[in-house]
Amino acid sequence: MRISVIGCGYLGAVHATAMAKLGHEVVGIDVDERKIEALSAGRAPFFEPGLDELLTEATASGRLRFSTSMADASGATLHFIAVGTPQVAGGYAADLTYVDSAVAALVPWLREGDVVVGKSTVPVGTAERLADVLAADAPGSILAWNPEFLREGFAVEDTISPDRLVYGLPDDADASATAKAALDEAYAVAVGQGTPVVTADYATAELVKTAANAFLATKISFINAMAEIAEATGADVTRLADAIGYDARIGRRFLNAGVGFGGGCLPKDIRAFTARAEELGRGESVAFLKEVDAINLRRRQRVVDLVLDQLGGSAHRRTVAVLGLAFKPDSDDVRDSPALDVAVRLRGLGADVRATDPEAIANARARHPQLDYVDATTDALDGAEVTVIVTEWKQYRGLDPVALRERVASPVVIDARNCLDADAWRAAGWTVVGLGRP
Ligand code: UDX
Repeated sequence: MRISVIGCGYLGAVHATAMAKLGHEVVGIDVDERKIEALSAGRAPFFEPGLDELLTEATASGRLRFSTSMADASGATLHFIAVGTPQVAGGYAADLTYVDSAVAALVPWLREGDVVVGKSTVPVGTAERLADVLAADAPGSILAWNPEFLREGFAVEDTISPDRLVYGLPDDADASATAKAALDEAYAVAVGQGTPVVTADYATAELVKTAANAFLATKISFINAMAEIAEATGADVTRLADAIGYDARIGRRFLNAGVGFGGGCLPKDIRAFTARAEELGRGESVAFLKEVDAINLRRRQRVVDLVLDQLGGSAHRRTVAVLGLAFKPDSDDVRDSPALDVAVRLRGLGADVRATDPEAIANARARHPQLDYVDATTDALDGAEVTVIVTEWKQYRGLDPVALRERVASPVVIDARNCLDADAWRAAGWTVVGLGRP
């Protein structure tokens, strides 16, 4: 199929590459020239395992190219909208500027029978509005909504082998059949392998994505709320998670207590959901998401408080090593990162913060140049009075507590992701403080 992908951020760049890998002829379009230049040269403009190799392979095959010109979308019959929907400045709602302008810019190049597929995460009701725009300005084109569930760090895998496909289709039977056939063809490999396909109306498809992220955020905040109770009672939240996780109805995944969730999706998506529900007069239905958000943000302060406890109440001029800046391992993304937030809060209290991360230093420095960044983990630890592990990179989980003991000024580690072998660290003479653990 000839496919265009509008927006080449995490979502779009991976989607375009994966579609080319699956045999389609793809053009990725973005207004950011630097991004397009990097992608055209086979370099992902962000860290995503496996993407560089796939990009190189796909561009070499001649099936994948990138462009800053929307005119290059003409000739494609399937157009994916994969632009960002960030949180608006000064509010909770999603900013739909990029979605609206992408559709407006695409309209002149659409032909009758073309299918436009929204992948961006949008407030429920957006697709219906955009379908009206297409009906008025590009008659004969069809809108579908096909939310994306990819996780950073597993983006390629999640795109090529998704656990489910969701198609939000128009009411009109012919248009619906055309859109479904186009999506089935685009995803022929996954469909052929028996991946479940859920077809629905626009509103349901939009809500599937919002509901999934709200559920995941709630699950994490639930276990973090249990961590708060564990801290008041001497219980161990990781044992608790193991025990309740054996109940298949609950499940152990996404029950890791720690410094909480961040990234470009969960925080802004739950906020946008509350804003949209309030617009719909149903604010109370998802009011609990405000509590989910509040629990999540409290865990960041909890980590800072634990550092202060270890320093006798003041961080001023005290040396603190912060290991991890990305919002999760295998990512260089620092958007709403709990790790970076902890580093910034400690710096704000006057600490000499020595921060490091295997991939995210450049992005962190661009946002917070006031922090002292070091590349090597060992350099971060030199002379540290407290060490905080805030992103559970494999490199940090595998650190040797015996060797490191000699480098730090004081062998105290705050394990803000409950990712260390606490017994091994204690045996090496460290004080280990976890979250929600005695
Ligand atoms: C998420 C959704 O998983 C994905 O389906 C959606 O498309 C986009 O948002 P992502 O933001 O890449 O993906 O990260 P995810 O792996 O979901 O982790 C989100 C955050 O939750 C991270 O900060 C992670 O550290 C945290 N987390 C996750 C926990 O604190 N505890 C857990 O048990 C799991």
